[in-house]
Amino acid sequence: MKKLNRKKSEKLFKEAKKMFPGGVHSPVRAFKSVEGSPLFIKKGNGSKIYDVDNNEYLDFCCSWGPLILGHNNSYVRKSIAKALTLGTSFGTPSPAGNEIGKLILENHRYLDMIRFVSSGTEAVMSAIRLARGFTGKSKLIKFDGCYHGHVDSLLVKAGSGLATFGVSTSAGVPESLVKETLVLPLNDLAIVEKTLKKNKDVAAVIIEPIPANNGLLLQDKKYLKGLRKLCTKYKTLLIFDEVISGFRVGFEGAAGYYKIKPDLITFGKIIGGGMPVGAFGGRKDIMKHVAPLGAVYQAGTLSANPIALSAGIAMLKSVLKKGFYEVQEKKTTYFVSKILKHAQKKNYPFNIQTIGSIFWFTFSKSRITTADQIDASKMKIFSKMHGALLNRGVYLGPSGYEVGFISSAHSYKDLDAAIKKITKTMDEIF
Ligand SMILES: Cc1ncc(COP(=O)(O)O)c(C=O)c1O
Repeated sequence: MKKLNRKKSEKLFKEAKKMFPGGVHSPVRAFKSVEGSPLFIKKGNGSKIYDVDNNEYLDFCCSWGPLILGHNNSYVRKSIAKALTLGTSFGTPSPAGNEIGKLILENHRYLDMIRFVSSGTEAVMSAIRLARGFTGKSKLIKFDGCYHGHVDSLLVKAGSGLATFGVSTSAGVPESLVKETLVLPLNDLAIVEKTLKKNKDVAAVIIEPIPANNGLLLQDKKYLKGLRKLCTKYKTLLIFDEVISGFRVGFEGAAGYYKIKPDLITFGKIIGGGMPVGAFGGRKDIMKHVAPLGAVYQAGTLSANPIALSAGIAMLKSVLKKGFYEVQEKKTTYFVSKILKHAQKKNYPFNIQTIGSIFWFTFSKSRITTADQIDASKMKIFSKMHGALLNRGVYLGPSGYEVGFISSAHSYKDLDAAIKKITKTMDEIF
Protein backbone atom coordinates (compact mmCIF):
# COMPACT_ATOMS: atom_id res chain seq x y z
CA MET A 1 0.00 0.00 0.00
CA LYS A 2 1.25 3.46 -0.89
CA LYS A 3 2.32 5.52 2.13
CA LEU A 4 0.98 9.04 2.27
CA ASN A 5 3.44 11.87 2.21
CA ARG A 6 3.41 13.35 5.70
CA LYS A 7 6.70 15.23 5.56
CA LYS A 8 5.33 18.58 6.75
CA SER A 9 3.62 16.99 9.74
CA GLU A 10 6.85 15.20 10.60
CA LYS A 11 8.82 18.42 10.39
CA LEU A 12 6.36 20.30 12.57
CA PHE A 13 6.40 17.50 15.13
CA LYS A 14 10.19 17.66 15.31
CA GLU A 15 9.95 21.38 15.95
CA ALA A 16 7.11 20.96 18.49
CA LYS A 17 9.12 18.42 20.48
CA LYS A 18 11.69 21.12 21.20
CA MET A 19 9.04 23.41 22.64
CA PHE A 20 6.43 21.19 24.28
CA PRO A 21 6.81 18.06 26.43
CA GLY A 22 6.52 15.20 23.95
CA GLY A 23 5.64 17.75 21.28
CA VAL A 24 2.01 17.89 22.41
CA HIS A 25 -0.40 19.47 24.88
CA SER A 26 -2.27 16.28 25.77
CA PRO A 27 -0.43 12.91 25.87
CA VAL A 28 -2.52 10.68 23.60
CA ARG A 29 -2.02 13.10 20.71
CA ALA A 30 1.64 12.03 20.53
CA PHE A 31 0.84 8.71 18.72
CA LYS A 32 2.77 6.73 21.34
CA SER A 33 0.44 3.74 20.99
CA VAL A 34 0.36 3.62 17.20
CA GLU A 35 2.78 3.75 14.30
CA GLY A 36 4.32 6.95 12.98
CA SER A 37 4.08 10.50 14.24
CA PRO A 38 1.05 12.72 14.76
CA LEU A 39 -0.72 14.51 11.95
CA PHE A 40 -0.77 18.27 12.11
CA ILE A 41 -4.29 19.15 11.10
CA LYS A 42 -4.88 22.50 9.49
CA LYS A 43 -8.62 22.34 8.88
CA GLY A 44 -11.74 20.29 9.17
CA ASN A 45 -14.94 20.30 7.20
CA GLY A 46 -17.95 18.05 7.79
CA SER A 47 -16.73 14.48 8.26
CA LYS A 48 -13.21 15.23 6.97
CA ILE A 49 -9.97 16.65 8.30
CA TYR A 50 -6.97 17.85 6.29
CA ASP A 51 -3.34 17.75 7.34
CA VAL A 52 -0.59 20.22 6.49
CA ASP A 53 0.56 17.91 3.66
CA ASN A 54 -2.92 18.27 2.11
CA ASN A 55 -3.98 14.71 2.84
CA GLU A 56 -7.69 14.21 3.44
CA TYR A 57 -9.00 11.88 6.16
CA LEU A 58 -12.48 10.72 7.05
CA ASP A 59 -12.47 11.51 10.75
CA PHE A 60 -13.87 9.15 13.38
CA CYS A 61 -12.15 10.89 16.31
CA CYS A 62 -14.15 14.11 15.98
CA SER A 63 -11.89 16.00 18.39
CA TRP A 64 -12.43 13.19 20.95
CA GLY A 65 -16.19 13.53 20.97
CA PRO A 66 -17.32 17.16 21.01
CA LEU A 67 -18.02 17.42 17.30
CA ILE A 68 -21.32 15.59 17.05
CA LEU A 69 -22.20 17.87 14.10
CA GLY A 70 -18.84 17.30 12.41
CA HIS A 71 -16.19 19.88 11.63
CA ASN A 72 -16.79 23.53 10.88
CA ASN A 73 -20.55 23.23 11.15
CA SER A 74 -22.01 26.36 9.58
CA TYR A 75 -24.64 26.94 12.27
CA VAL A 76 -22.06 26.71 15.07
CA ARG A 77 -19.62 28.86 13.11
CA LYS A 78 -22.22 31.58 12.53
CA SER A 79 -23.21 31.58 16.18
CA ILE A 80 -19.56 32.05 17.21
CA ALA A 81 -19.04 34.76 14.57
CA LYS A 82 -22.06 36.68 15.82
CA ALA A 83 -20.89 36.48 19.43
CA LEU A 84 -17.39 37.57 18.41
CA THR A 85 -18.63 40.90 17.12
CA LEU A 86 -19.69 41.77 20.68
CA GLY A 87 -16.39 41.15 22.45
CA THR A 88 -14.63 38.12 23.85
CA SER A 89 -15.04 38.12 27.62
CA PHE A 90 -16.65 40.36 30.21
CA GLY A 91 -16.15 38.57 33.51
CA THR A 92 -19.80 39.28 34.29
CA PRO A 93 -23.03 37.33 33.85
CA SER A 94 -24.11 37.36 30.20
CA PRO A 95 -27.36 36.59 28.34
CA ALA A 96 -25.62 33.62 26.67
CA GLY A 97 -25.35 31.98 30.11
CA ASN A 98 -29.09 32.22 30.67
CA GLU A 99 -29.82 31.04 27.16
CA ILE A 100 -27.76 27.85 27.43
CA GLY A 101 -28.92 27.33 31.02
CA LYS A 102 -32.58 27.35 29.93
CA LEU A 103 -31.83 25.20 26.90
CA ILE A 104 -30.33 22.53 29.12
CA LEU A 105 -32.52 22.68 32.21
CA GLU A 106 -35.77 22.76 30.24
CA ASN A 107 -34.79 19.68 28.27
CA HIS A 108 -32.96 17.57 30.84
CA ARG A 109 -35.10 15.99 33.53
CA TYR A 110 -32.12 14.94 35.65
CA LEU A 111 -30.76 18.43 36.35
CA ASP A 112 -32.23 21.15 38.58
CA MET A 113 -29.28 23.55 38.51
CA ILE A 114 -26.03 23.80 36.64
CA ARG A 115 -22.73 25.69 36.79
CA PHE A 116 -20.43 26.25 33.82
CA VAL A 117 -16.67 25.77 33.88
CA SER A 118 -14.07 25.47 31.11
CA SER A 119 -13.21 21.76 30.86
CA GLY A 120 -14.36 18.30 31.81
CA THR A 121 -11.57 18.02 34.36
CA GLU A 122 -12.70 21.21 36.05
CA ALA A 123 -16.28 19.96 36.11
CA VAL A 124 -15.28 16.72 37.82
CA MET A 125 -12.92 18.44 40.25
CA SER A 126 -15.70 20.84 41.26
CA ALA A 127 -18.34 18.11 41.54
CA ILE A 128 -16.22 16.02 43.90
CA ARG A 129 -15.45 19.05 46.06
CA LEU A 130 -19.17 19.75 46.16
CA ALA A 131 -19.92 16.13 47.09
CA ARG A 132 -17.40 16.33 49.91
CA GLY A 133 -18.70 19.70 51.09
CA PHE A 134 -22.32 18.56 50.98
CA THR A 135 -21.86 15.21 52.71
CA GLY A 136 -19.06 16.20 55.07
CA LYS A 137 -17.35 12.94 54.07
CA SER A 138 -14.00 12.60 52.34
CA LYS A 139 -13.53 9.31 50.45
CA LEU A 140 -14.40 8.61 46.83
CA ILE A 141 -15.18 5.41 45.01
CA LYS A 142 -14.13 5.24 41.38
CA PHE A 143 -13.94 2.37 38.92
CA ASP A 144 -11.06 0.78 37.14
CA GLY A 145 -11.52 1.59 33.46
CA CYS A 146 -13.17 4.99 33.98
CA TYR A 147 -11.32 8.23 33.31
CA HIS A 148 -12.40 11.51 34.86
CA GLY A 149 -9.80 13.95 33.60
CA HIS A 150 -6.56 14.78 35.35
CA VAL A 151 -8.04 15.45 38.78
CA ASP A 152 -5.41 14.52 41.43
CA SER A 153 -7.60 12.23 43.51
CA LEU A 154 -8.92 10.42 40.45
CA LEU A 155 -5.58 9.65 38.81
CA VAL A 156 -5.66 6.44 40.76
CA LYS A 157 -5.90 2.84 39.63
CA ALA A 158 -6.61 -0.36 41.51
CA GLY A 159 -3.79 -1.66 43.67
CA SER A 160 -3.24 -5.36 44.22
CA GLY A 161 -6.30 -7.30 45.35
CA LEU A 162 -9.92 -6.30 45.07
CA ALA A 163 -11.61 -3.45 46.90
CA THR A 164 -8.31 -2.09 48.04
CA PHE A 165 -6.83 1.38 48.12
CA GLY A 166 -5.54 2.52 44.80
CA VAL A 167 -2.14 3.52 43.52
CA SER A 168 -1.53 6.71 41.64
CA THR A 169 -1.23 6.62 37.86
CA SER A 170 0.78 9.84 37.84
CA ALA A 171 3.80 11.17 39.64
CA GLY A 172 3.01 14.23 41.71
CA VAL A 173 -0.17 12.98 43.34
CA PRO A 174 0.24 13.02 47.14
CA GLU A 175 -0.22 9.71 48.90
CA SER A 176 -2.69 11.41 51.26
CA LEU A 177 -5.03 12.00 48.30
CA VAL A 178 -4.56 8.54 46.84
CA LYS A 179 -5.69 7.09 50.17
CA GLU A 180 -8.98 8.92 49.85
CA THR A 181 -9.88 7.07 46.64
CA LEU A 182 -11.10 3.49 46.54
CA VAL A 183 -10.87 1.84 43.15
CA LEU A 184 -13.27 -0.98 42.30
CA PRO A 185 -13.85 -3.13 39.22
CA LEU A 186 -16.81 -2.19 37.03
CA ASN A 187 -20.06 -4.14 36.76
CA ASP A 188 -19.80 -5.79 40.20
CA LEU A 189 -22.41 -4.55 42.63
CA ALA A 190 -21.47 -6.85 45.50
CA ILE A 191 -18.02 -5.24 45.76
CA VAL A 192 -19.56 -1.78 45.87
CA GLU A 193 -21.90 -2.78 48.67
CA LYS A 194 -19.11 -4.45 50.62
CA THR A 195 -16.95 -1.33 50.28
CA LEU A 196 -19.72 1.06 51.27
CA LYS A 197 -20.57 -1.09 54.27
CA LYS A 198 -16.97 -1.01 55.43
CA ASN A 199 -16.27 2.67 54.66
CA LYS A 200 -18.78 5.01 56.24
CA ASP A 201 -16.97 8.11 55.00
CA VAL A 202 -17.57 7.85 51.23
CA ALA A 203 -18.67 11.23 49.86
CA ALA A 204 -19.36 10.02 46.34
CA VAL A 205 -19.34 7.15 43.93
CA ILE A 206 -18.20 8.51 40.58
CA ILE A 207 -18.66 6.55 37.38
CA GLU A 208 -18.76 7.06 33.66
CA PRO A 209 -22.18 5.42 33.22
CA ILE A 210 -21.04 4.66 29.69
CA PRO A 211 -17.33 4.08 30.25
CA ALA A 212 -15.67 5.24 27.04
CA ASN A 213 -12.06 5.98 27.92
CA ASN A 214 -10.64 2.49 28.24
CA GLY A 215 -12.55 0.96 25.43
CA LEU A 216 -16.32 1.14 25.52
CA LEU A 217 -17.15 -0.91 28.60
CA LEU A 218 -20.93 -0.98 28.46
CA GLN A 219 -22.37 -1.79 31.88
CA ASP A 220 -25.51 -3.74 32.69
CA LYS A 221 -28.49 -1.48 33.30
CA LYS A 222 -29.21 -3.55 36.41
CA TYR A 223 -25.76 -2.68 37.72
CA LEU A 224 -26.21 1.06 37.19
CA LYS A 225 -29.67 0.93 38.81
CA GLY A 226 -28.12 -1.01 41.67
CA LEU A 227 -25.45 1.67 42.15
CA ARG A 228 -28.22 4.26 42.47
CA LYS A 229 -29.91 2.21 45.19
CA LEU A 230 -26.69 1.58 47.08
CA CYS A 231 -25.71 5.25 47.05
CA THR A 232 -29.10 6.18 48.49
CA LYS A 233 -28.90 3.40 51.08
CA TYR A 234 -25.40 4.38 52.26
CA LYS A 235 -26.01 8.16 52.02
CA THR A 236 -23.32 8.78 49.49
CA LEU A 237 -23.72 10.79 46.30
CA LEU A 238 -23.83 9.19 42.87
CA ILE A 239 -21.95 11.24 40.29
CA PHE A 240 -22.38 10.40 36.63
CA ASP A 241 -19.40 11.65 34.67
CA GLU A 242 -21.08 12.34 31.35
CA VAL A 243 -18.27 14.28 29.72
CA ILE A 244 -18.49 11.85 26.78
CA SER A 245 -22.00 10.41 27.08
CA GLY A 246 -23.72 13.72 27.85
CA PHE A 247 -25.72 14.96 24.83
CA ARG A 248 -24.17 12.04 22.88
CA VAL A 249 -26.47 9.08 23.50
CA GLY A 250 -29.43 11.42 23.77
CA PHE A 251 -29.95 14.96 25.06
CA GLU A 252 -30.25 13.56 28.58
CA GLY A 253 -27.15 11.43 28.15
CA ALA A 254 -26.77 8.18 30.03
CA ALA A 255 -29.08 9.39 32.81
CA GLY A 256 -31.91 9.57 30.28
CA TYR A 257 -30.80 6.47 28.39
CA TYR A 258 -30.94 4.29 31.49
CA LYS A 259 -33.56 6.41 33.31
CA ILE A 260 -31.43 6.86 36.41
CA LYS A 261 -31.23 10.08 38.40
CA PRO A 262 -27.73 10.60 39.71
CA ASP A 263 -27.17 13.28 42.36
CA LEU A 264 -24.67 15.18 40.23
CA ILE A 265 -23.66 15.04 36.57
CA THR A 266 -20.51 16.38 34.97
CA PHE A 267 -20.25 17.55 31.37
CA GLY A 268 -17.66 18.59 28.80
CA LYS A 269 -17.11 18.05 25.08
CA ILE A 270 -20.48 18.42 23.24
CA ILE A 271 -21.78 21.03 25.70
CA GLY A 272 -19.16 23.44 24.32
CA GLY A 273 -19.70 22.76 20.62
CA GLY A 274 -15.94 22.34 20.12
CA MET A 275 -14.98 25.20 22.44
CA PRO A 276 -13.60 24.85 26.00
CA VAL A 277 -16.71 24.38 28.13
CA GLY A 278 -17.56 22.04 30.97
CA ALA A 279 -20.35 22.03 33.52
CA PHE A 280 -21.61 20.26 36.59
CA GLY A 281 -25.15 20.14 37.80
CA GLY A 282 -27.80 18.11 39.53
CA ARG A 283 -30.04 18.25 42.59
CA LYS A 284 -30.94 21.74 43.72
CA ASP A 285 -30.41 21.01 47.41
CA ILE A 286 -26.85 19.97 46.59
CA MET A 287 -26.10 22.71 44.03
CA LYS A 288 -27.19 25.31 46.61
CA HIS A 289 -23.97 24.55 48.46
CA VAL A 290 -21.88 26.07 45.66
CA ALA A 291 -20.44 29.56 46.31
CA PRO A 292 -21.70 32.24 46.54
CA LEU A 293 -24.93 30.58 47.67
CA GLY A 294 -23.10 28.03 49.78
CA ALA A 295 -19.75 27.25 51.35
CA VAL A 296 -18.19 25.13 48.56
CA TYR A 297 -15.85 27.42 46.69
CA GLN A 298 -15.73 27.22 42.92
CA ALA A 299 -14.82 29.96 40.44
CA GLY A 300 -13.33 30.76 37.02
CA THR A 301 -12.20 33.92 35.19
CA LEU A 302 -13.37 32.55 31.85
CA SER A 303 -16.23 30.36 33.13
CA ALA A 304 -19.32 30.64 30.90
CA ASN A 305 -17.31 32.59 28.36
CA PRO A 306 -19.83 34.04 25.88
CA ILE A 307 -17.93 32.97 22.76
CA ALA A 308 -17.55 29.41 24.02
CA LEU A 309 -21.20 29.31 25.06
CA SER A 310 -22.32 30.59 21.66
CA ALA A 311 -20.86 27.42 20.15
CA GLY A 312 -22.54 25.27 22.79
CA ILE A 313 -25.89 26.97 22.25
CA ALA A 314 -25.81 26.30 18.51
CA MET A 315 -24.72 22.71 19.09
CA LEU A 316 -27.40 21.98 21.67
CA LYS A 317 -30.15 23.58 19.57
CA SER A 318 -29.12 21.32 16.70
CA VAL A 319 -29.17 18.09 18.67
CA LEU A 320 -32.56 19.00 20.13
CA LYS A 321 -34.12 18.74 16.67
CA LYS A 322 -36.61 15.88 16.48
CA GLY A 323 -35.08 12.59 15.39
CA PHE A 324 -31.46 13.78 15.65
CA TYR A 325 -30.27 10.95 17.86
CA GLU A 326 -32.27 8.26 16.08
CA VAL A 327 -30.56 9.16 12.79
CA GLN A 328 -27.08 9.04 14.37
CA GLU A 329 -27.77 5.69 15.99
CA LYS A 330 -29.16 4.22 12.76
CA LYS A 331 -26.09 5.30 10.83
CA THR A 332 -23.78 3.87 13.46
CA THR A 333 -25.65 0.55 13.50
CA TYR A 334 -25.32 0.40 9.71
CA PHE A 335 -21.57 1.08 9.88
CA VAL A 336 -20.92 -1.37 12.70
CA SER A 337 -23.06 -4.20 11.33
CA LYS A 338 -21.45 -4.10 7.87
CA ILE A 339 -17.95 -4.37 9.34
CA LEU A 340 -19.01 -7.07 11.79
CA LYS A 341 -20.66 -9.08 9.04
CA HIS A 342 -17.37 -9.13 7.16
CA ALA A 343 -15.40 -10.10 10.27
CA GLN A 344 -17.84 -12.88 11.11
CA LYS A 345 -17.83 -14.26 7.56
CA LYS A 346 -14.03 -14.47 7.69
CA ASN A 347 -14.01 -15.62 11.31
CA TYR A 348 -11.66 -12.86 12.41
CA PRO A 349 -11.05 -12.37 16.16
CA PHE A 350 -12.80 -9.04 16.05
CA ASN A 351 -15.83 -7.38 17.53
CA ILE A 352 -17.32 -3.91 17.86
CA GLN A 353 -19.00 -2.65 21.02
CA THR A 354 -21.35 0.21 20.35
CA ILE A 355 -24.00 2.52 21.81
CA GLY A 356 -25.64 5.57 20.23
CA SER A 357 -23.06 7.01 17.85
CA ILE A 358 -20.04 5.64 19.74
CA PHE A 359 -18.16 2.51 18.67
CA TRP A 360 -15.08 0.59 19.81
CA PHE A 361 -13.11 -2.04 17.92
CA THR A 362 -12.13 -5.02 20.08
CA PHE A 363 -10.01 -8.01 19.22
CA SER A 364 -11.97 -10.50 21.24
CA LYS A 365 -15.25 -12.17 20.37
CA SER A 366 -16.76 -11.90 23.82
CA ARG A 367 -18.40 -8.91 25.44
CA ILE A 368 -15.98 -6.78 27.47
CA THR A 369 -17.37 -4.98 30.52
CA THR A 370 -14.32 -4.47 32.73
CA ALA A 371 -10.85 -3.05 32.19
CA ASP A 372 -9.09 -6.32 33.09
CA GLN A 373 -10.90 -8.23 30.34
CA ILE A 374 -9.00 -6.24 27.71
CA ASP A 375 -6.02 -8.13 26.33
CA ALA A 376 -3.31 -5.45 26.10
CA SER A 377 -1.21 -7.58 23.74
CA LYS A 378 -3.96 -7.20 21.11
CA MET A 379 -3.32 -3.46 20.91
CA LYS A 380 -0.52 -4.27 18.47
CA ILE A 381 -3.21 -5.26 15.99
CA PHE A 382 -4.92 -1.91 16.48
CA SER A 383 -1.65 -0.08 15.96
CA LYS A 384 -1.17 -1.80 12.58
CA MET A 385 -4.74 -1.15 11.63
CA HIS A 386 -4.45 2.50 12.57
CA GLY A 387 -1.34 2.98 10.42
CA ALA A 388 -2.89 1.22 7.41
CA LEU A 389 -6.13 3.16 7.73
CA LEU A 390 -4.30 6.48 7.87
CA ASN A 391 -2.69 5.63 4.57
CA ARG A 392 -6.15 4.91 3.19
CA GLY A 393 -7.47 8.24 4.47
CA VAL A 394 -9.36 7.10 7.58
CA TYR A 395 -8.53 8.73 10.91
CA LEU A 396 -9.23 6.85 14.15
CA GLY A 397 -8.15 8.07 17.59
CA PRO A 398 -4.49 7.01 17.97
CA SER A 399 -4.97 4.28 20.60
CA GLY A 400 -6.84 0.99 20.69
CA TYR A 401 -8.35 2.07 24.00
CA GLU A 402 -10.06 5.05 22.41
CA VAL A 403 -13.59 4.92 21.05
CA GLY A 404 -14.75 6.24 17.68
CA PHE A 405 -17.54 8.73 17.05
CA ILE A 406 -19.93 9.23 14.17
CA SER A 407 -21.24 12.73 13.57
CA SER A 408 -24.26 14.06 11.73
CA ALA A 409 -21.83 15.12 8.98
CA HIS A 410 -20.91 11.49 8.23
CA SER A 411 -22.98 10.49 5.20
CA TYR A 412 -23.83 6.94 4.18
CA LYS A 413 -21.43 7.49 1.28
CA ASP A 414 -18.68 8.32 3.80
CA LEU A 415 -19.54 5.27 5.83
CA ASP A 416 -19.57 2.97 2.79
CA ALA A 417 -16.13 4.27 1.81
CA ALA A 418 -14.83 3.71 5.34
CA ILE A 419 -16.35 0.20 5.54
CA LYS A 420 -14.54 -0.74 2.33
CA LYS A 421 -11.22 0.57 3.62
CA ILE A 422 -11.62 -0.98 7.06
CA THR A 423 -12.59 -4.43 5.76
CA LYS A 424 -9.73 -4.35 3.25
CA THR A 425 -7.33 -3.46 6.07
CA MET A 426 -8.73 -6.32 8.16
CA ASP A 427 -8.13 -8.74 5.28
CA GLU A 428 -4.49 -7.69 5.24
CA ILE A 429 -3.98 -7.81 8.99
CA PHE A 430 -5.77 -10.98 10.10
C1 LIG B 1 -15.46 10.91 31.10
C2 LIG B 1 -14.48 12.03 31.10
N1 LIG B 1 -14.37 12.82 32.17
C3 LIG B 1 -13.54 13.86 32.21
C4 LIG B 1 -12.74 14.16 31.14
C5 LIG B 1 -11.83 15.35 31.18
O1 LIG B 1 -12.30 16.33 30.31
P1 LIG B 1 -11.28 17.44 29.74
O2 LIG B 1 -10.34 16.72 28.84
O3 LIG B 1 -12.18 18.41 29.04
O4 LIG B 1 -10.62 18.05 30.92
C6 LIG B 1 -12.79 13.37 29.99
C7 LIG B 1 -11.93 13.65 28.84
O5 LIG B 1 -11.80 12.89 27.92
C8 LIG B 1 -13.70 12.28 29.96
O6 LIG B 1 -13.81 11.50 28.90
